[in-house]
Amino acid sequence: MSAATVPPVKTLPDAQTVTAVRHWTDALFSFRVSRPQSLRFKSGQFVMIGLMGDNGKPLLRAYSIASPAWDEELEFYSIKVPDGPLTSKLQHIQPGDEIILRPKPVGTLVHDALLPGKRVWFLATGTGIAPFASLMREPETYEKFDEVVMMHTCRTVAELEYGRELVESLKDDPLIGEMVGDKLKYYPTATREPFHHTGRITENLRSGKVFEDLGLTPMSPGTDRAMVCGSLAFNKDVMEVLESFGLREGANSEPREYVVEKAFVGDGV
Ligand SMILES: Cc1cc2nc3c(=O)[nH]c(=O)nc-3n(C[C@H](O)[C@H](O)[C@H](O)COP(=O)(O)OP(=O)(O)OC[C@H]3O[C@@H](n4cnc5c(N)ncnc54)[C@H](O)[C@@H]3O)c2cc1C
Ligand SMILES: NC(=O)c1ccc[n+]([C@@H]2O[C@H](COP(=O)([O-])OP(=O)(O)OC[C@H]3O[C@@H](n4cnc5c(N)ncnc54)[C@H](OP(=O)(O)O)[C@@H]3O)[C@@H](O)[C@H]2O)c1
Repeated sequence: MSAATVPPVKTLPDAQTVTAVRHWTDALFSFRVSRPQSLRFKSGQFVMIGLMGDNGKPLLRAYSIASPAWDEELEFYSIKVPDGPLTSKLQHIQPGDEIILRPKPVGTLVHDALLPGKRVWFLATGTGIAPFASLMREPETYEKFDEVVMMHTCRTVAELEYGRELVESLKDDPLIGEMVGDKLKYYPTATREPFHHTGRITENLRSGKVFEDLGLTPMSPGTDRAMVCGSLAFNKDVMEVLESFGLREGANSEPREYVVEKAFVGDGV
């Protein structure tokens, strides 16, 4: 083996190499890393990632994999928490740096946890869009459903940009562009700035505004399925709305009409 073909020495346990980093706002960034050859996951799942802490022990946090299962690399979409033990450091990573990635994917936002249906709703606030960034690029989403509605709500328009660009890129995606076709309906809203659509997801579902704006029939348990990812408060409130439409929470072991995952633990930064 020549020197050029010797693999780089991994200095961290479960080390993966950062290949790209992009900062979207002063509180949000996304990055891509190499993918362990052995890692198999379902689009929508999360893994533990992190850096070595100052005490010499791995400092790990749960992160949704934002890339689809077929991607050769892994993508993550992250908050920058001021003084956050992990993200105050993670936000400084550069291509060529290493992060720790434990290759044990888990999570409830997977197709297997939903009963078959005609239409699926992806409901997210803030960085809760990460699992749907994966699922929107997953062929199974379009094989299983005739319609896919992505509702994403943030305080500001700039915080919606990662999702907007991703949705925009799908129609030209050589692998799934054709499958996506007109099936994907994107409904971003900002709550604290003027935008073409405003208001919380819960309000827009309750009032029926989103159905009107997109020309859709209201949700019904016979046809509709949903996946939810946001703050605890959002998850709780949106679950109430889904239940009011007759949908019931499911799990991998008991598929039903909707599933929920926390986007983070706590009240927010
Ligand atoms: C199942 C699961 C999946 C997750 N996926 C992601 C993901 O894809 N992207 C991501 O950025 N984070 C995600 N998180 C949160 C992540 O695990 C960390 O909390 C986050 O990286 C901050 O780490 P920290 O050590 O800097 O601060 P921490 O000590 O972990 O958090 C400090 C505080 O910051 C707030 N906070 C943490 N994360 C967020 C967030 N994402 N949005 C708003 N406020 C937050 C909370 O109030 C928390 O108490 C996920 C959490 C869970 C449970
Ligand atoms: N994003 C920022 O610009 C900003 C700035 C300073 C501090 N922070 C702090 O950062 C933390 C996280 O901020 P974040 O913006 O990522 O998350 P967030 O506060 O959970 O808000 C994200 C989006 O979800 C909506 N939302 C919040 N609770 C909801 C509920 N129960 N039901 C339906 N919709 C709900 C918000 O609408 P509303 O706007 O109506 O609440 C907002 O559009 C917050 O605790 C905040 O204190 C954020």
